[in-house]
Amino acid sequence: MVDYRPLQEELRALAREKNALIIAHNYQRPEVQDAADFTGDSLELSRIAASTGNEIILFCGVHFMAETAHILSPEKKVLIAEMKAGCPMADMITAGDVRKLKRYHPEALVVAYVNTSAAVKAETDICCTSANAAKVVANIPVDREIVFIPDRNLALHVEKKTGRQLIKWEGFCPTHEYITADTIIKTKKEHPEALVVAHPECLPEVRELADAIESTSGMIRFAKESPAREFIIATEMGLNYRLGKENPGKSFYSPTKKALCPNMKMTTLPKAIETLRTGRYEIRLDEDVRRRALKAVEAMVSYI
Ligand code: 13P
Ligand code: SF4
Repeated sequence: MVDYRPLQEELRALAREKNALIIAHNYQRPEVQDAADFTGDSLELSRIAASTGNEIILFCGVHFMAETAHILSPEKKVLIAEMKAGCPMADMITAGDVRKLKRYHPEALVVAYVNTSAAVKAETDICCTSANAAKVVANIPVDREIVFIPDRNLALHVEKKTGRQLIKWEGFCPTHEYITADTIIKTKKEHPEALVVAHPECLPEVRELADAIESTSGMIRFAKESPAREFIIATEMGLNYRLGKENPGKSFYSPTKKALCPNMKMTTLPKAIETLRTGRYEIRLDEDVRRRALKAVEAMVSYI
């Protein structure tokens, strides 16, 4: 077992010295999560980034998340621990694609999952995360057409929850699509008492087998509140660390070892230290793009 404490202490000391806040997504490596001030889902991290008084935010996550922090807090220095950590789903749609969609559907309101670039957000009306997508859509007047980008699985989930018809984009998360109905059925056979909790990015046939569908932090709340002792967690495997830590005595199983996001795992403690020490990997955006993206992100942050 590697002892990460010296590196964690080095990162914490640097953060104190530089008045930096370290925030980490729930899928980050355990040793990175343990060194952070806050760990959370996309919505929680956006809120923290918007409200903190720290001069520097060190974001341990993927690029669109750090970009969202910068969109909300341009006066702060937002650093991403590893610049190469992207999100393949976010890369499945461009600003040009959204402009084309708007030409085809000129009356539609465009709802974008936060897993998109700032340039894409700048073309949209309102953002959402997996935690609030259904609420965002349910509040749109019923006679209004809605374009929903880029995740088709989240869009299908929102359609089912709200009864609304969405114009969907064919984006998806490769990590979540490794989780199939067969992997759930097999894991359920091994742990028949376990409840199945799925992320909305999962395939529809996986969600059909789930007892609950939640964002990553929603899964943590569900596991805490549930009287069940065993859970099959249909999302990126990194979440199981926090689940185990915060729920002693309960067991969490991944349906497949393939449910791993390589981008989320790119951030390591030495990289985070180097980024904070040197100030490298600062997120910067064209101010016009940032302002236009801000409207869509603010509409979401003030939502629930
Ligand atoms: P959450 O907002 O639920 O944390 O999800 C973010 C994500 O990228 C899931 O793959
Ligand atoms: Fe993107 Fe999927 Fe990784 Fe989430 S798990 S950051 S959606 S690739």
